[in-house]
Amino acid sequence: MNEMIASATEKFAKLIEEQLERIEKMNQEKDFVQYDQLDKIVIGIVGGDGIGPAITNEAHRILEFLLKEEVDKGKVEFKVIDGLTIENRVKVMKPIPEDVLQELKKCHVILKGPTTTPRAGDPWPNIESANVAMRKELDLFANVRPVKVPEKGIDWTFFRENTEGAYAVGSKGVHVNDDLAIDFTVTTTEGTERIARAAFDYAVKNDKKKVTAVTKANVVKTTDGKFLSLCQKVAKDYPTIEMDDWYIDIMTAKLVDEKRRTQFQVFILPNLYGDILTDEAAEFQGGVGTAGSANIGKRYAMFEAIHGSAPRMVDEGRAQYADPSSIIRAGVMLLAHIGYVQEAQKLERALDICMHTEKRLVVTGRDTGATGNEFADYIMQTIQTIDN
Ligand code: IPM
Ligand code: MG
Repeated sequence: MNEMIASATEKFAKLIEEQLERIEKMNQEKDFVQYDQLDKIVIGIVGGDGIGPAITNEAHRILEFLLKEEVDKGKVEFKVIDGLTIENRVKVMKPIPEDVLQELKKCHVILKGPTTTPRAGDPWPNIESANVAMRKELDLFANVRPVKVPEKGIDWTFFRENTEGAYAVGSKGVHVNDDLAIDFTVTTTEGTERIARAAFDYAVKNDKKKVTAVTKANVVKTTDGKFLSLCQKVAKDYPTIEMDDWYIDIMTAKLVDEKRRTQFQVFILPNLYGDILTDEAAEFQGGVGTAGSANIGKRYAMFEAIHGSAPRMVDEGRAQYADPSSIIRAGVMLLAHIGYVQEAQKLERALDICMHTEKRLVVTGRDTGATGNEFADYIMQTIQTIDN
């Protein structure tokens, strides 16, 4: 009995040490990279698993097309990084193989296809998610997910904390004995303040009036309680922005409430609630396949589709019919993030035309529709018809 408790306590002590080290690192962080001050911006292209390489390749073609002059001038370099596949990860039993991580660290921004996330019972060993590991390794603390449905008055931007909460040590819980399993959730002052500031700064810059924090601080008193009170503290530095707070359960309901939901603008959430609420929100816009997601840190940023790797499509020989629009939308966010705002706007406009207005080609995921390659060509043709 005592041995069992001692062993669990030892594991817990190790987690505490790791988290204290992480806080040290956060305290040494420099400020955000200024892309316009770099000689060259390196954009990493990471295919991932399943349909990932097929759709990412299409988004890559479009970005190369839009940034051709910049590449010719040597201002932008694309770097294709292979090897972030489940087979390779399992081979070395790491969420990101070391050589891939070294390549990622040579980039400034990364466009990443979906990666398979194993869980117990899968044919793969239950290793940590590559997504989660990349967010931690590159300290991509702000997961920014916009959802817009103009005809319904929906214009939301979610700031999901991306490195802490239930995810911080999500693969390091403790099986104390056969009957007792314990996971841990982590809130730090540094980690919460930086996501809160990112959300409020965004609100100020984008002329928003309100920021909404979402927690379950009435029940998860210690970590969610700390998260909420730090958001309230940061809010005091932004007197022009109104802050309110909701619990996650009622918030999931209020997103469906047509009268209430149009009042929300910017959200701040701990990691797991952000994961859940952004899938619900994306559903109003047409599903997770239509949303893009930015993972922003001070030194690195990564942009991804929010859907999975769809291994079934690959098994059934349909990867070429996979819809690249979500990763292309991630490409829009990448362009805007590194300062190519006009190119981002053109691409967004072309996506809207191709997906909603003109619809000359439709991707259905099967041979009843266009291939991702044809769709990307259609986007590039459409871009050429858009004035500067
Ligand atoms: C997301 C995904 C990931 C997450 C998975 C794939 C680990 O659901 O990006 O929202 O839970 O963060
Ligand atoms: Mg998710």
